[in-house]
Amino acid sequence: MKKTALLLLSLAFSLPGFSQGNNYTQNYKKYDNLALTPPMGWNSWNKFACNVDEKLIREVADALVATGMKDAGYTYINIDDCWHGERDAQGFIHEDPKRFPSGMKALADYIHSKGLKFGVYSDAGSQTCGGRPGSRGYEFQDAQVYASWGVDYLKYDWCNTEGLKAEGAYKTITAALRKAGRPIVLSICEWGNDKPWEWGPTVGHLWRTTGDIYNCFDCINDHGTWKSWGVMQILDKQDGLRQYAGPGHWNDPDMLEVGNGMPANEDRAHFTMWSMIAAPLITGNDLRKMSKETTEILTNREVLAVNQDKLGVQGFKQSTKDSVETWLKPLEGGKWAVTFLNRSRKPQPVRFDWQTTPITDDLSKQELNATKTTYKVRNLWAKKDAGTTKKAFAATVPAHDVVLLLLTK
Ligand code: GLA
Repeated sequence: MKKTALLLLSLAFSLPGFSQGNNYTQNYKKYDNLALTPPMGWNSWNKFACNVDEKLIREVADALVATGMKDAGYTYINIDDCWHGERDAQGFIHEDPKRFPSGMKALADYIHSKGLKFGVYSDAGSQTCGGRPGSRGYEFQDAQVYASWGVDYLKYDWCNTEGLKAEGAYKTITAALRKAGRPIVLSICEWGNDKPWEWGPTVGHLWRTTGDIYNCFDCINDHGTWKSWGVMQILDKQDGLRQYAGPGHWNDPDMLEVGNGMPANEDRAHFTMWSMIAAPLITGNDLRKMSKETTEILTNREVLAVNQDKLGVQGFKQSTKDSVETWLKPLEGGKWAVTFLNRSRKPQPVRFDWQTTPITDDLSKQELNATKTTYKVRNLWAKKDAGTTKKAFAATVPAHDVVLLLLTK
């Protein structure tokens, strides 16, 4: 029996045409060892929409370095929609020659020469959301072109995808990127429609969990057929998803609006909450004209360390009282980040008694028990130490603002 089975098996492998349909297997798994902490960088969409060209992208790359953003950890310079020109007779995609006269390869080289990484955008459908050529039917050619330019990051959108299933479509582009041979971060952007957190972790490195962000702290922008969402609305939509995030695979609540017009308190709260939920930190403001306040928010190292913590555990809401939410994020080495988020329009007092409020995170198995361990408390926005967990913490949180604490053993 055993011998016959072996013989059949070796026959199957020696006859190329024998097992039909499996001769050209693809690798549908993303590149490993990328985005082990949430990706940090800049993307053109939130501020510039379709108004992108090589001059802007070069200037932004320069500004990322000059403002200290690069030193703080921001790496990716990503061009969103509307960079595309036409496909040639063979089907290869080209950049818009008017907007990118020097070509994408030269732009990628420039970005790389600054020690930064380069990202582009495409769409699984026939056209991008901005009406440019999509990748449908051209996935393997597009991936080949991106690899030849030196692309490091691909955001892959979901407009005009009639008849496609998201999981299959994203696996196709992953296989194409694999075939092209250059490790590229894949940012899945199908707005959370088909539960990408369930199939996305092996296919891509991050997946949008919602529709587009809207530059407003607490409102909804109704466009008729679709809506875009304020910072608080997006935050609420992350409920129930934390178990899916971790090193190399992140929930993506969309790019940052910090520096795009909200007041500093709201920008700070937005940035803090994205840090607490281990979100990718892709800025979307004009880095060439940042205010001092915006730069200080985006480059606060201690807050960035909360986001970039190696454990990669997404934080959670522990309680809500009088419009103040208490959020916790377990960090490496038994540390904890604790945020009091005031969602109301007036200042609110907070009091948190560490001694009587032990916390256990069932997901990460981390424990915060101040009766067993005394933690040092530091206020990360005030940049001041704030005693220990022997004493209850009390403060007033301004309207639409946060107090963010770091607890260290
Ligand atoms: C979609 C995406 C946005 C942006 C635009 C570009 O709406 O969700 O993030 O990429 O398309 O057209």
